[in-house]
Amino acid sequence: MAVAGSLALLATACGSGDDGSSSSGSGGGSADALEGRGPITLATGKDTSGNLQNQLDAWNSSHPNEKVELKELPEDADAQRQQMVQNATAKSDAYSVLVMDVVWTSEFAANQWITQIPEDKVPDLGKLIPATVETAKYRDKLYGVPITSDGGLLYYRKDLLTKAGVTDAPKTWDEMTADCTKVAALPEAKGMSCYAGQFEKYEGLTVNFSEAVNSAGGVVVDKDGKPNVNTPEAKAGLEELVNGLKTGAIPKAAITYKEEESRRAFQDGKLLFLRNWPYVYGLASKTDGSSKVAGKFAVAPLPGKTGAGVSSLGGHDYAISSFAKNKATAIDFINFMASEARQKANIEKTSQAPTWQSLYDDPTLNKQFPYLAPLKASILGAQPRPRVVKYGDVTAAIQEAAYNALNGKTTPDQALSDLQTKLQSLITQ
Ligand code: GLC
Repeated sequence: MAVAGSLALLATACGSGDDGSSSSGSGGGSADALEGRGPITLATGKDTSGNLQNQLDAWNSSHPNEKVELKELPEDADAQRQQMVQNATAKSDAYSVLVMDVVWTSEFAANQWITQIPEDKVPDLGKLIPATVETAKYRDKLYGVPITSDGGLLYYRKDLLTKAGVTDAPKTWDEMTADCTKVAALPEAKGMSCYAGQFEKYEGLTVNFSEAVNSAGGVVVDKDGKPNVNTPEAKAGLEELVNGLKTGAIPKAAITYKEEESRRAFQDGKLLFLRNWPYVYGLASKTDGSSKVAGKFAVAPLPGKTGAGVSSLGGHDYAISSFAKNKATAIDFINFMASEARQKANIEKTSQAPTWQSLYDDPTLNKQFPYLAPLKASILGAQPRPRVVKYGDVTAAIQEAAYNALNGKTTPDQALSDLQTKLQSLITQ
């Protein structure tokens, strides 16, 4: 089986966005006065949680003259980015607040498409997990406020593992494979595959490839921001995925899976193990007939090659479009969504990862939501994807290399050597 997935990329190029790929407008939009009050819009990827409108209703009922209207974009992160980039290059005021994937900050800030936010305008900033706040910074300045975080989790069929005599979730890829072999002997396992993540050619593949590389001890980009993906460790990570598809541990269909397709496969009882984000917990637990696995699964940290795996750091920051009207309303609304009360209300309904540290340590919530402890560990141990202005090109190169290797079009060696060359030309230090 392949293993598990995921992972992360990592790249750690961190350092608040100093990627050196200085293309245009390297300074970022300067803080303006955040003035103007009135109606605003919120542009976001498709709300798979189903709870966002409730959150907006809570704001709208107490702000009748400053209502927020939801503008839903596609489900796929790359398609969302494309629409936001188009909107920005047209200097349109159609989107006021942007729900930005954590990996877009450098590009949007460097191009001055989003407004710098003075830190003293965000009173709760110090209460949020520091790694999530870092994702909203470019060259040490703040351009957004983290509203949800994300860390990869291993969902597994506890009922079937127990029946097969396995008491603990696997910590390594080999243990996961061995568990699959044991469960395969049960009649219930007929038609099930061992494992899946998200292997369609889109941002989720960058996440899963990076997680595989990082979980085998490799990096995509090292701690100084330099690409270093042509290594035995990175190869071991990519090979786990390639071999999983070859042996059938990962079903062929997984090459078309994004988050939702893989969630449905798990909910339909087709997978023993699934790498996915925390939002799946709530949906897969529904007892309205939509999930065949409610009450039958549990979550654990991602497995790795020789021990615990490493997640890619995901999540979303709310930013203000530079071309928006009513920026005073926009920052108030963002602070409302960032508040502990709203984040608590959201986790109670959706199982999305909050960014408030205190919510992970709340005993009542932990009792109610057993995924909180592995989720906290996943987020605190997660690796950021490269923080570069040319992120769109960087992720496209990663997706191309990983997809070709998974489809057997290139060998893992060739894919990684080509990727290293491409990343070196895109990320110049
Ligand atoms: C989730 C994560 C985001 C990631 C995306 C990939 O939405 O929060 O960071 O890029 O999945 O599909």
